[in-house]
Amino acid sequence: MSVLIIEAFYGGSHKQLVDLLQEEIEGCIIHTLPAKKWHWKARTAAIYFMQTIPANDNYRILFASSVLNLAELIALRPDLGKLKKVLYFHENQLVYPVQKCQERDFQYGYNQILSCLVADVVVFNSAFNMESFLTSISKFLKLIPDHRPKDLEKLIRPKCQVLYFPIRFPNVSRFMPECKLAHFQKVADVKGNEDASLSVGLHFQQKNDAIKNLMEISDSGFESALSDAEPAHCTTHQGRPHNPLTRSEEEMKSKPSEGTNPCQEKDKQLVTYYPDNSMAKTDDQQRPLHIVWPHRWEHDKDPETFFKILLKLKENMLHFHLSMLGETFTDVPDIFIEARNALGSSVLHWGYLPSKDDYFQTLCMADVVVSTAKHEFFGVAMLEAVHCGCYPLCPKALVYPEIFPAEYLYSTPEQLYKRLQHFCRKPDIVRMHLYKGEMAPFSWAALRGKFRFLLTAEPREDFVTDGAKSQTCSLRQNL
Ligand SMILES: *[C@@H]1O[C@H](CO)[C@@H](O)[C@H](O)[C@H]1NC(C)=O
Repeated sequence: MSVLIIEAFYGGSHKQLVDLLQEEIEGCIIHTLPAKKWHWKARTAAIYFMQTIPANDNYRILFASSVLNLAELIALRPDLGKLKKVLYFHENQLVYPVQKCQERDFQYGYNQILSCLVADVVVFNSAFNMESFLTSISKFLKLIPDHRPKDLEKLIRPKCQVLYFPIRFPNVSRFMPECKLAHFQKVADVKGNEDASLSVGLHFQQKNDAIKNLMEISDSGFESALSDAEPAHCTTHQGRPHNPLTRSEEEMKSKPSEGTNPCQEKDKQLVTYYPDNSMAKTDDQQRPLHIVWPHRWEHDKDPETFFKILLKLKENMLHFHLSMLGETFTDVPDIFIEARNALGSSVLHWGYLPSKDDYFQTLCMADVVVSTAKHEFFGVAMLEAVHCGCYPLCPKALVYPEIFPAEYLYSTPEQLYKRLQHFCRKPDIVRMHLYKGEMAPFSWAALRGKFRFLLTAEPREDFVTDGAKSQTCSLRQNL
């Protein structure tokens, strides 16, 4: 036992990270508080952990998320002050959208600044999180009426680094509908890599090189050639009758024609790689676009904008299916109840799926994953959905440009509407799409080494004597 992990808000991505570290890194011991009433945890967790964490000479590292007021805990428990203290930011309170800037809200951002001053290493889950925090410090402290601290950004920045939230992408091949699986299979077969089918969407962590190769393929324009082999599985066959009950006149008119579908001609030789063409899914073209929204049911994810767009699609006779996943809390915004009624039979799933299998299965059945977030520092759910073969659509803001290539970003709700309208008319476009971004940098496989290094004790002297002393000195000089 050498790593003491403290999580004052043990739920969602905070839980996911702590569980992963405990499973993957030897010698971790976890102390947690349940993920309820965030404000109270942020205010009072330190005194709770003061009383519940037993003293232990074997601890070398303290790892805590920034919900904990680290400065308070270290003052209350001087024995823990000797450890290498790592503070992990899933979110920061300096740019968290607060309805009204009330004085009591100042405290949460202030606590995070104090915790940074006490920590030895400060880690952020994205560059957006880090930069938005560091560059907001001085403005944030202007709320103090007089005698403001100076140059805190300069003190804190040298301790900071970005370590993306590590995701252990599960093997979801058993949940993949035939069409998606066939699509991945083809890409893999063309590469001549027997089981790279799984590496495309299924377990990047073991297949970084295969992925890289695949990315190179798509970059070098091979992607359309690969997709050419697809129609046998995922698109309509010429002359097949359409079911008038499931397709509006508008959709009929906009059915991809031979000329516009890049997947229907040239490079016929690729088709010969797939002798299973006979398994063509004849109903695929008629299946409406399946949109998934896997976010917490809260205002900062902007469900209002999302529902407005869906209702407009419906008004315009565009067909789609919807799965509303994501965690719900005690106060579900009213908009969810209104939207549920208005969307009626378009809804496939409504509500949190507590079983991970059910969750991933639903993601695997979906075509497009949408974010309308007004606030996002990382977004595990979007990446998990992409892993399951969904086409992402996210705001061109917040953390998203750091994670997703520009083609998956929209600037305005109108642009999001237009993209979805287009996809509703031609679901094949997304079904045949091969994701162009990188997934490997977010996988546990890629990040494991860095997390191990972070949670490895370095010689105590570095942190107990020299490190702590110089930190204290520079603080004194600056304040
Ligand atoms: C993933 O799951 C599929 C089917 O459930 C299985 O055939 C395959 O071997 C698994 N892959 C790995 C790498 O575990």
